[in-house]
Amino acid sequence: MDVRLASWMPLLVIFVHLASYSVVNSKAGKPNIVFVLTDDQDVVLFGQQPMAKTHKLLTEQGMLFENMFVSSPLCCPSRASILTGQFVHNHNTQNNSVNGGCSGQTWQKQAEPKAFNTYLKAEGYKTFFAGKYLNQYGLEKSGGVKHVPPGWDEWHGLVGNSVYYNYSLSVNGKEEKHGDNYTEDYLPDLIHRRGLDFLSRQSDRRPFFMMLSTPSCHKPFTPAPQYEKSFQDEQAPRTASFDTKGKDKHWLVGAALNPMPVDVIKIIDENYRLRHRTLLSVDDMVEGVYNKLKDMDLLDNTYIFFSSDNGFHLGQFSLPEDKRQPYEFDIRVPLIVRGPGIKPNTTSIESVTNVDLAPTFVDLSGSKAETAKFDGMSFAGILRGQAHAFRSTVLVEYYGEEEVKEVQCPQLSNQHLKGCTKEFHCVCVDSQNNTYGCIRYENAKQSFKFCEFQDASNTIEVYDLNGDPHELNNIAKSAPPELLSKLTDKLAKLSLCAGTGCHDKTEL
Ligand SMILES: *[C@@H]1O[C@H](CO)[C@@H](O)[C@H](O)[C@H]1NC(C)=O
Ligand SMILES: *[C@@H]1O[C@H](CO)[C@@H](O)[C@H](O)[C@H]1NC(C)=O
Ligand SMILES: *[C@@H]1O[C@H](CO)[C@@H](O)[C@H](O)[C@H]1NC(C)=O
Ligand SMILES: *[C@@H]1O[C@H](CO)[C@@H](O)[C@H](O)[C@H]1NC(C)=O
Ligand SMILES: *[C@@H]1O[C@H](CO)[C@@H](O)[C@H](O)[C@H]1NC(C)=O
Repeated sequence: MDVRLASWMPLLVIFVHLASYSVVNSKAGKPNIVFVLTDDQDVVLFGQQPMAKTHKLLTEQGMLFENMFVSSPLCCPSRASILTGQFVHNHNTQNNSVNGGCSGQTWQKQAEPKAFNTYLKAEGYKTFFAGKYLNQYGLEKSGGVKHVPPGWDEWHGLVGNSVYYNYSLSVNGKEEKHGDNYTEDYLPDLIHRRGLDFLSRQSDRRPFFMMLSTPSCHKPFTPAPQYEKSFQDEQAPRTASFDTKGKDKHWLVGAALNPMPVDVIKIIDENYRLRHRTLLSVDDMVEGVYNKLKDMDLLDNTYIFFSSDNGFHLGQFSLPEDKRQPYEFDIRVPLIVRGPGIKPNTTSIESVTNVDLAPTFVDLSGSKAETAKFDGMSFAGILRGQAHAFRSTVLVEYYGEEEVKEVQCPQLSNQHLKGCTKEFHCVCVDSQNNTYGCIRYENAKQSFKFCEFQDASNTIEVYDLNGDPHELNNIAKSAPPELLSKLTDKLAKLSLCAGTGCHDKTEL
């Protein structure tokens, strides 16, 4: 190339870049993205039911995904998957502890700098985060409040795990303490207010990404005062597996007390109501954000995503309350998307998983080059209504937690168990051998779950969900050997996959 011409090139590039910048960021250009993430909100036990405004403004005006799963049914591993678009075996956040990768050094050095928001920022997006991040974020042992994850222009990160009052935030690296005055401190409302404040400072000149990550409906399930008396007549749904003895299942399920004592059922009924009450404040937030975008004339160019980090159970198979299980109630979460090009009031039955969120955000931002790096796949095509086979196979990985000392049930100390409490008669929420990998296979004709546990019996659980949606009958011993071997192979392959190697579209 002519040397003189070459010296002109950078200028030319800058010129073209500037020219396209004004076009790209005009109203019809790069879309804004709002992502509302709830904590422990199920879909199987009607977790969406209290959210009437969200239903009207997002579901009826957008797309509801009927088959949205998480890569791991526990907060920190799931959130790490959402942020990185990677499966647990790749981001390596195995559990909720710092030494299990939850906001630990490896996470901060290797995974966090590749979270989806860093790509969006590089695409010119203004990025905003408020609320719960990772369970160990901001604590001394994970670098304190001064650690602000890269790629966020404005950061209001909750220190530690979900609570509603008496917490600290890292506001762009500085500690901000909050007490328990509802008007000032109630965290779901504070996230709502900070979100609106951020929006009020935006315009159609520069695209933005705003993530609002609520503590609702995680314990301690503290509702706003005006909602303390809502849903008084409700009780935890008596699904087909409610207080059912889980037969032929892994050890932890077998260890549950069946039938559940009356006082345990009373607690879970009350917690069901409390969970729904805490979601009313999220419903208000969705409405507030929607109205703000509408007032600012930004609604037409903004996607609003709504999802949760994992599901929940309340009495299923006599397990009092928690997540961490491979069953539908724990791995299914809501996913609703409203935005440009999405046909209102539509449903998609494509299987999607939370590792697909990051590549979808990046894809929508226009940064095509990066999407192949993710374990997940962009589902932007589904949003646009383009018919295509997406995926039939979802990988679920879980590492059982254990605690050396069980404070409330000391007789269970040193037994590789966790979360054994008096209120639940020392039925524990987890055990070290509740460690498993599953394939969740779903297409128009077939619906299977196949799980291998790393326990002393090499337990295998298999369910044909078409005939057995509540996973009552483990068919591991009776299923056709050919089906089992195909599912075994899929799990073996996906448990080690990376990037495009995880983009499995093969049928059984
Ligand atoms: C907040 O902390 C104060 C002081 O420790 C305590 O009195 C109050 O009960 C706490 N409030 C809540 C809702 O936990
Ligand atoms: C709570 O905060 C509001 C708003 O700042 C204030 O008006 C009210 O007096 C506070 N309530 C208490 C009990 O301190
Ligand atoms: C959305 O679809 C449902 C089910 O098809 C229908 O009952 C409802 O009226 C529709 N809502 C709107 C706002 O179109
Ligand atoms: C979390 O994972 C780490 C690494 O595998 C392990 O050492 C730790 O014991 C786990 N934490 C819990 C509470 O089980
Ligand atoms: C699972 O762990 C528990 C608690 O340590 C133990 O009692 C049980 O025998 C184990 N079961 C299997 C199948 O590994």
